[in-house]
Amino acid sequence: MARPVYVTTPIYYVNDRPHIGHAYSTVAADVVSRYARLRGKPTYFLTGLDEHGLKIERRAKEEGLAPQDFVDQMAAPFRSTWEELGCAHDGFIRTTSAQHRDRVQALWKLMQDKGDIYLDDYEDWYCVGCESFKTEKELLEGKICPVHQAPVERIKERSYFFRLSNYTQPLLDYYAAHPEFVRPDARFNEVKAFLAEGLRDLSISRTSFRWGVAVPGDPEHVVYVWLDALMNYVSALGGPAEEGEAPLYDEFWQSSETITHIVGKDILRFHAIYWPAFLMSAEIRLPTQIWAHGWLTVNGEKMSKSLGNFLPPGPLVEAFGADVLRYYFMREVGFGQDGDFSHRNLVNRYNGELANGLGNLMNRIVASIVKKNLGGRVPSVDFDALEDVDRQLIDKATATSSEAAKHIEALAFHRALDSIWELVSAANKYVDSTEPWKLAKQADKTRLEQVCYTVLETLRWLSVLLFPVMPTKCNELRGQIGMGPLLPTEQTDLWPRAWGGLRPGTQTHPATPLFPRFDESQERSILERLGVDKDVAPRSSAK
Ligand code: MSP
Repeated sequence: MARPVYVTTPIYYVNDRPHIGHAYSTVAADVVSRYARLRGKPTYFLTGLDEHGLKIERRAKEEGLAPQDFVDQMAAPFRSTWEELGCAHDGFIRTTSAQHRDRVQALWKLMQDKGDIYLDDYEDWYCVGCESFKTEKELLEGKICPVHQAPVERIKERSYFFRLSNYTQPLLDYYAAHPEFVRPDARFNEVKAFLAEGLRDLSISRTSFRWGVAVPGDPEHVVYVWLDALMNYVSALGGPAEEGEAPLYDEFWQSSETITHIVGKDILRFHAIYWPAFLMSAEIRLPTQIWAHGWLTVNGEKMSKSLGNFLPPGPLVEAFGADVLRYYFMREVGFGQDGDFSHRNLVNRYNGELANGLGNLMNRIVASIVKKNLGGRVPSVDFDALEDVDRQLIDKATATSSEAAKHIEALAFHRALDSIWELVSAANKYVDSTEPWKLAKQADKTRLEQVCYTVLETLRWLSVLLFPVMPTKCNELRGQIGMGPLLPTEQTDLWPRAWGGLRPGTQTHPATPLFPRFDESQERSILERLGVDKDVAPRSSAK
């Protein structure tokens, strides 16, 4: 039995519109969930919005709107962006929903019953951008937050506290018992180093503004926005709940094989320290893995409000198509590393890898040789009569399938794509060396059929291997080789393993090229339309 998989993105603050940093996380989570579905695992992919807190309250005020009206208005572009990008989430949680509010209060009560919450006076520095208190040590000179490069505020109020300090040792024990709890390893070491200094109790309520979930039994206070936000992963499933009360929670939280939170490196501490401590306090099962990815710069520049260079995904999807952008995100930067989003590299990868590599393989065989010489039908072959060169390509496909699986399972998407592209290159080389156009001229039908079948079947494998990253293009590819779209089904593993799935006699349907190559003038006009200087090059100093 394939056991359930739960994968989440951070919930995004709605103070700004979605940009490629958000898209990067969401695409990665979509790839993980599409892969799990292909393997027949019951899968739940959650994304959503973080709609409470001082930052949002202030932003709504600037816009002259009531906070609820403001967040309702901002939710739409997030939903439509994920749809445009082909991100097929199962749940979309908004922290202003009644279910969420109710479940946050339920969690609070569990932590309170445990004796982990107390009332006290508090005074410290607060960064509204981070929605987090900062110690003096963490600040730059002039009391500036290093993340937001903005001054922090002095906050003094009566507040509820969570006994986080009690959880230093339990967390260290948990980390020791679960060496893959935080990925990548270097980030796990940072978390451990932070923890080794000991934890202070955490202020978990505020009285100086109203935009949040009321503290149960003391509505003067609203719940700290990070406690509220982290709870989304459980509240979206209807938890915390007793067994039988919330089926999604039972299946995807309590019984999941894996619970993976994909987050940016800047919010790792909240996920790797606060979140498991809250869950331990409430005696709720912990996630299996927190995966912290790096940050993207844009053409060598950091995205920031002051530079006004937040790059929205919409125009890129319009120019290149969703799958190309998804491919670029997953291929360009090692997941976990910082990297650069460069329009120039995107165009280069499009032309070099998608058009010349995969697109060319399709065109040469499906739109040309098979169409002209085999009546557009998948030929039949005697597998026992294949030649060594054919077997080598089949072996390569088999090795690629298991390597790609291993890499995707480790969220090393770029490695998975590197390995899949070795197969694409091997298949193109196979075509170069077997020269099917010559076989057609020599009327060597048996050999021509063997070669064409081998390439068509390789294309079928590629349509599955690449499906998590490029679902729409893979289904188009399948349509062209006469296959139906991939329809993942629970408990059926569709990952390619057995050679020969393509049925002889199947009619192929060569259509427009999957990835038409951009010539220079098209390239120029695309970049111009996107407002990018054609010669833009990543500046390594700004990384
Ligand atoms: N609301 C919190 C998360 C709560 S999760 C319980 C939050 N929201 S955010 O909108 O500010 O950021 C969401 C995610 O976007 C974070 O994981 C952050 O790392 C990511 N990114 C923001 N800018 C980014 C880049 N330039 N590059 C890659 N990811 C970036 O934090």
